[in-house]
Amino acid sequence: MSKASELLSVVTDDIKQVEEKMRSGIPAQHQSLQSVVDYLVGAGGKRLRPALTLMACNFYPVDKDKSFSLAASVELLHTATLVHDDLIDNSLFRRGMPTLNVSWSPGATILTGDFLFARAAQLAAETDSVRIVNTFAQTLMTIVGGELNQLFNDGHDGIPTEAEYHQRIYAKTASLFAAGTECGGVLCGAPEAEIRALRDYGYYLGMGFQVIDDILDFKGDEEHIGKPVANDLRQGIATLPVMLYNRQQPNHPTILKAVRREPVSDAEILDIVDKIRASGCVEAALDEAVNFVRQAQAALEPLPDNPYRRAMHGLADYTVTRDI
Ligand code: IPE
Ligand code: IPE
Ligand code: MG
Ligand code: MG
Repeated sequence: MSKASELLSVVTDDIKQVEEKMRSGIPAQHQSLQSVVDYLVGAGGKRLRPALTLMACNFYPVDKDKSFSLAASVELLHTATLVHDDLIDNSLFRRGMPTLNVSWSPGATILTGDFLFARAAQLAAETDSVRIVNTFAQTLMTIVGGELNQLFNDGHDGIPTEAEYHQRIYAKTASLFAAGTECGGVLCGAPEAEIRALRDYGYYLGMGFQVIDDILDFKGDEEHIGKPVANDLRQGIATLPVMLYNRQQPNHPTILKAVRREPVSDAEILDIVDKIRASGCVEAALDEAVNFVRQAQAALEPLPDNPYRRAMHGLADYTVTRDI
């Protein structure tokens, strides 16, 4: 399997233009907005969503500048959700850098996220496509629904069923992948059946991607992935490895306390993380992620064979082998 950077090479030059767009268009209203946008964009990230969006844009001849606006819109929307998510999750670093909520008040952090949402909407509007703007708005509503659902621990005593977990990870993550690839197809005027295929690809890839993110919270290396690990359960969020473990060993007191948002000590968290790691449930969760990305690859079938489709196929493999 090729490395992520090789797979992304079909869009590397375009991504630089996208980053330029992400930094641009900031009104001089408040002096700190430009520096905070520069900080957030400069922190990097894998740029997977804009890369996939650009690939989808290139199946047919496309207005390049509009494709950059669309990809920048998708990545800024993602960045805005992370700014809010880190405040909600009480996460202190991301992409190897301190999060905004470390140095800024909750109010200023929320306003910065709001600003990024608005700028992302403006970039989506630069495509001149009502359908794209509508998908953008729908996706943002879906993401907020997913985050609220997780925050309130909707479900059975805080431990979701598989169907609830799927709905949640669709809402918080796969919806944006699906929107990016779908809108790419819309922008380049792909036939409806191919737009559907692009959306399905984004959906399944995003599902697999979030399962892996949930797994990395158990087995990742903080230094390497650039964000805290074991934070989900600390915040009372039960993800797939916990759900599978709970099926094997029901009602472990630490899990129950965590999902009820009762205080749990560091030693208790480390102990349950060790137990889950030793249980085989992380590997079982990985099988589920592999299953999702196989479906993503199958979804590509109706699309014309070209370097973009081949990169998308390879990125699906990368998604499950990634350690960051
Ligand atoms: C983090 O996304 C949030 C999730 C939906 C899991 P990424 O892992 O794509 O984060 P960056 O953009 O590369 O930092
Ligand atoms: C983030 O999910 C999803 C959104 C921002 C909508 P996570 O909370 O799992 O992401 P990380 O692990 O903090 O990156
Ligand atoms: Mg988080
Ligand atoms: Mg996570």
